[in-house]
Amino acid sequence: MKAFKRNKPLSNRKGIILAGGLGKRLRPLTFSISKQLMPVYDKPMIYYPLSTLMLSGIKEILIITVKEDQNAFKRLLGDGQKWGMKFNYAVQDRPEGIPQAILIGKEFIGNSDIAIALGDNLFYGNDLISLLSSANSRKVGSTIFAYLVNDPERYGVVQFSNSRKVISIEEKPKKPLSKYAITGLYFYDNSVVERAQKLKFSDRKELEITALNNMYLEDELLNVEIMGRGFAWLDTGTFDSLHEAGSFIRTLENRQGLKVGCPEEIAWRLGWINDQDLKNLADPLTKSGYGKYLLKLLEGQKSLDGIS
Ligand code: G1P
Repeated sequence: MKAFKRNKPLSNRKGIILAGGLGKRLRPLTFSISKQLMPVYDKPMIYYPLSTLMLSGIKEILIITVKEDQNAFKRLLGDGQKWGMKFNYAVQDRPEGIPQAILIGKEFIGNSDIAIALGDNLFYGNDLISLLSSANSRKVGSTIFAYLVNDPERYGVVQFSNSRKVISIEEKPKKPLSKYAITGLYFYDNSVVERAQKLKFSDRKELEITALNNMYLEDELLNVEIMGRGFAWLDTGTFDSLHEAGSFIRTLENRQGLKVGCPEEIAWRLGWINDQDLKNLADPLTKSGYGKYLLKLLEGQKSLDGIS
């Protein structure tokens, strides 16, 4: 038995990973390497949002980067076939907001529903798979996630009524009305393409994801799921947060002997690749220990280790 426990069937939702931007808060690290390729302990950062989309059941993904970095991402990820997936690539010339990903990806999206994951957001939690697969299986409207933080003014902030109804979402408010930040993971139905086209640039000269979410809110089509205290949501855009995310992953992985955000393992557990494929992926990675981990999965497949 190797499959993750899955409550809902897969959908045909497509994914977008937004890995653009100049990583200014990580300079000089980012002068020659994209932020989303930086290591978070034993993996490039983009493996984590990629894993989040995979765990949602999404196989076809558009990876949006700045032009100069596109080849590096292609070298790392290829066309996705090795993981039983399909990757497409597109360029964001200027970092003009998250909804720009929808305009850039219009052709790719076609008639599908989508999930957008920011390339520097990392999620971890015991119930993550069921939270993600239920967001994925929702056919109409959108699902976003709120997480309690100490510094809500840095994020989109959601205010709830006493009965947990969403009252408002504000982008980086000076006086936040709650401590619940909106995370960088967004599930939208196909109407998002039409909605994104209506957005206007904000004072900070960006198309705002909060304005898009507010359109869904006005139409009573916005679901905000709270990620409770058993979850970790980390972003990795500064020296400290990058280091902390690496330490967090290292601690978990060394304690349990299980990797977090390992696309090869997820693809295998979901049945997107077979045992031989996993072995082929492991072979060039054995020296670092990463490949040995993948091979150990094959040995341990008759046990229940790590299935939930
Ligand atoms: C963006 C969004 C914000 C959201 C955050 C999550 O912020 O605008 O609503 O809470 O991502 O990481 P930015 O990356 O522009 O600071």
